[in-house]
Amino acid sequence: MKLSNELVEKSLPLLIVATLLTVSVGGLVEIVPLFFQKSTTTPAKGVTPYDPLRLLGRDIYIREGCYLCHSQMIRPFRAETERYGHYSVAGEFVYDHPFQWGSKRTGPDLARVGGRYSDVWHRAHLLNPRDVVPESNMPAFFWLDRPAQTDNIQAKMRALRSVGVPYTDAEITAAPEAVKGKTELDALVAYLQGLGTSIKNND
Ligand code: HEC
Repeated sequence: MKLSNELVEKSLPLLIVATLLTVSVGGLVEIVPLFFQKSTTTPAKGVTPYDPLRLLGRDIYIREGCYLCHSQMIRPFRAETERYGHYSVAGEFVYDHPFQWGSKRTGPDLARVGGRYSDVWHRAHLLNPRDVVPESNMPAFFWLDRPAQTDNIQAKMRALRSVGVPYTDAEITAAPEAVKGKTELDALVAYLQGLGTSIKNND
């Protein structure tokens, strides 16, 4: 039987199967090569796995839902690069599980916020944004100045290692000492200060 347009259009099951097949093959052709392309699997120059404190901060960033208002993905357009710096490249995200690209910008993109402000500014801003940016409508995260939960830092690092982040045994052994006594605010600020610092605008 000839698989004519008319036949496919008149048979709903056939149309569904043909559509699924087309979308799946099309999707796979786009997605599968990305798993093997060097530019997406090799860290960009200077990108290293998160140190324990920044890793802790990253989990607080996720817990507090910062990604709901902030993207971490600078698109390659002039308006974006003028404001935020060098556009984001795939190799910057190889150690991000999961990545924090986001799609909502109630606040500015944070992909390169590292080093833009002092630690003191960030601490004040997170505890009450209006203290430093009077017109801000960002919520105050005033509870962050409390001890961070650090007893599971080694488990976090081991979990990431199982998906390919190259933490060494020595790094994992040393981790509890690196986060001992730190507050959630310390960790979150350390995370923010490291964001996007491996590539600068003129690289
Ligand atoms: C409801 C939306 C919202 C949420 C949730 C939110 N922010 Fe913001 N954020 C904003 C807005 C709006 C601004 C711009 C005004 C300002 O600087 O406060 C901003 C600004 C910032 C800035 C300064 C960026 C720059 O380039 O000037 C940082 C850093 C920041 N937010 C971090 C965070 C972190 C970390 C979290 C989670 C703990 C968070 N934000 C949660 C809305 C939000």
